[in-house]
Amino acid sequence: MRMVDLIEKKRDGNELTKEEIRFVIEGYTSGDIPDYQMSALAMAIFFQDMTTEERAELTMAMVESGDQIDLSAIEGIKVDKHSTGGVGDKTTIALAPLVAAVGVPVAKMSGRGLGHTGGTIDKLEAIPGFSVEIDTSKFTKLVNQNKLAVVGQSGNLTPADKKLYSLRDVTATVNSIPLIASSIMSKKIASGADAIVLDVKTGSGAFMKKLEHSKELAESMVAIGKNLGRDTMAIISDMNQPLGRTIGNALEVKEAMEMLRGEGPDDLKELCLTLGSQMVYLAKKASSIEEARIKLEEVIGNGRALETLKTFIEAQNGDPSIVDDPTKLPTAQHIIEVEAKESGMIAEIIADKIGTAAMLLGAGRATKESTIDLAVGIVLNKKIGDHVEIGDSLVTIHANSEDVSEVIDIVVGAYSIANQKVAKPTLIYDVIH
Ligand code: URA
Repeated sequence: MRMVDLIEKKRDGNELTKEEIRFVIEGYTSGDIPDYQMSALAMAIFFQDMTTEERAELTMAMVESGDQIDLSAIEGIKVDKHSTGGVGDKTTIALAPLVAAVGVPVAKMSGRGLGHTGGTIDKLEAIPGFSVEIDTSKFTKLVNQNKLAVVGQSGNLTPADKKLYSLRDVTATVNSIPLIASSIMSKKIASGADAIVLDVKTGSGAFMKKLEHSKELAESMVAIGKNLGRDTMAIISDMNQPLGRTIGNALEVKEAMEMLRGEGPDDLKELCLTLGSQMVYLAKKASSIEEARIKLEEVIGNGRALETLKTFIEAQNGDPSIVDDPTKLPTAQHIIEVEAKESGMIAEIIADKIGTAAMLLGAGRATKESTIDLAVGIVLNKKIGDHVEIGDSLVTIHANSEDVSEVIDIVVGAYSIANQKVAKPTLIYDVIH
């Protein structure tokens, strides 16, 4: 087989076979196929697309390019959740103990990553003492015992995806639905999930800005998952403004705990209940989505969700007393209110700008080497559709530096205030099975 023939085949709009896709991925991972040929193929895929079978084969070839996590020692159906990411997305912190409290085993592998705030692991490390450095046997034991454990990513998962993603980044081929879908699904499948719930974000602060593209990506990932024998479903949720009210590591942990207490912002609660119901249903802990939702509401109401969080924190060496006393979480030295200069209705909050402002405060990493400040961040006191009067606080900034004038300018620039009524945005646009 010759790579040049496969590039030509895809360039002309033909379907690659399983053997051909394996040849490409194995050859590219080992270094036998050079970057320039892989770039040409990625561009051909960008223009000519891939069938569902090709996407599934590409996913599986990338899964098999590296280690695969074996979760078979954990009892029950392991359901993983993946979000395509957005500003203020602390869903995992709330959702994991929530579904674990109704008996869904959550064996979560998480990363740090770059962005406006840290990844799930950084956020959890805002809890004093919390450690994700646990070995496989302890991880398995904790999930069997408490239904929940989170471990830092280790091993050589999907090296083909890592190499291909870096190449796509510099060859204008990131934005290709078949390549994105197989990239995301390869990581989920290599992590050992039996079933997968996807939260595909849409809107100005999302990776996919347009609803039609988000839907297309979600449908593609669901089709790949099903093709590979994993029960998979997706929801499309809003990212036209940040999720919830907080952006920043410790602040997000606090908000996630409020959600588990039945408090906190409505959008975060609704998203957790929607995703959680799907997870409980796929784990076969309820016979319908409606029953799953009732079970989740029960564990919020009777305190079991919060108890599950405490047990989880304690089992990973963290201080569980932060659940009852969040003032023990890291706090910033300076609290600055940003006031509205006009009255009206909040019409827009550009999520990306709020994310940039949080990163400038130190809440996220600009590069792999950056250190993050777990205490800093932004609290949105007004969201789209809220009424605001001159002098009301739009945003509270939690900072560890005195000069935050640049951050204030960005935050103010993210808000638009209108003088007519503005509807609250839709939160869940679609559910795809
Ligand atoms: N996220 C991924 O993991 N892969 C992509 O290709 C795009 C976003």
